[in-house]
Amino acid sequence: MIVERNVPLQPLNSFGIAARAAVLVRVRGEADVRAVRADAELGAQPTFVLGGGSNIVLTGDVKPVVLKVEVPGRRVVRDTARHVIVEAGAGENWHDFVTWTLDQGLPGLENLALIPGTVGASPVQNIGAYGVELQDRFHELDAIDLLTGEVFTLGAAQCGFGYRDSVFKHAAAAPGDLGLAGRALILRVRFALPKDWQPVLGYLDIERRMQEEGVAHPSARQLYDWIVAIRRAKLPDPAVIGNAGSFFKNPTVTPEQCQDIIGRDPKVVHYPMPDGSVKLAAGWLIDACGWKGKSVGNAAVYEKQALVLVNRGGAAHPATGGEVMTLAKAIQTSVYERFGIRLEPEPVVV
Ligand code: EPU
Repeated sequence: MIVERNVPLQPLNSFGIAARAAVLVRVRGEADVRAVRADAELGAQPTFVLGGGSNIVLTGDVKPVVLKVEVPGRRVVRDTARHVIVEAGAGENWHDFVTWTLDQGLPGLENLALIPGTVGASPVQNIGAYGVELQDRFHELDAIDLLTGEVFTLGAAQCGFGYRDSVFKHAAAAPGDLGLAGRALILRVRFALPKDWQPVLGYLDIERRMQEEGVAHPSARQLYDWIVAIRRAKLPDPAVIGNAGSFFKNPTVTPEQCQDIIGRDPKVVHYPMPDGSVKLAAGWLIDACGWKGKSVGNAAVYEKQALVLVNRGGAAHPATGGEVMTLAKAIQTSVYERFGIRLEPEPVVV
């Protein structure tokens, strides 16, 4: 186990916010977690699990022991009647893993191409894009209990997946609760990729591409290329402009609330959900309140997608977590005042 002290976290979070970790340990497998637990100094301290840092806002230095997840490995595990099971270490880069599955001739993850972050963070957020969510391809995962050092396996039902949500985002409120935030470190994730693969289409941006290129039945590779191009055109590359993807979740309202908003704003972008509720495009709501391009210090609303907050200060004068949160709160207030809707942040605020 290598223990690093006073470590700059700016290169380790996609917003590029400057903060430091008092202690950081790189975790390449369960043995590293057990070594931390057994350590006379570190064993008793609280821990903070850091993956790719693409979904966090750091508002100060991190005092708990940072466990930086770097578990490597990608492999085809086995075939079942209807699926091929593939596994990746939690530290693998998500997009590189998606590309690797396609290189193996295994489609199924193409709609999730170019999402920043690591494989280990993907179930935490139940990442989703273009009609596919991680839970649609999830098989099971191995995690280690940070308190007991025991390794355990969870299936989909036990992960409590919801829209950008899982048990890994919730702390246990009472003994016996399934909340695993702060309690579990994900080591490896297994995916079930369908043998009778069908493309997931139906998303406006994709349908537009199909028409433009005259392709009615795109291959997985074709879809992957389109999604990479769509995302590159619309979303800032964290390597160039710091950001954490969508900053707010798309809110859900009742059909009555939606009708009320349509009455005042006929253009509001809304999608009926299978359960009868209606999802609204948070980006549209924020945009309608005039936030595109506005800033607080070096934190700003991205000009091309109002749902994304960006770090305009670059590496030399980065936005602070406080600036990002002040901007986020001002957006929440203005959307609430105009539409009566409370936007919920997507990233974890540390
Ligand atoms: N819109 C505006 N103005 C804006 C932004 C969006 O009018 O500034 C409108 C768009 O024109 C469109 C609608 O709002 O009609 C929805 O926008 P978009 O298609 O870009 O998708 P989104 O709802 O903003 C969600 C996910 C993304 C995911 C895309 C594609 C959430 C919070 N975000 O964004 O996920 O890539 O759909 O599936 O669900 C992420 O979670 O970090 C993320 C990027």
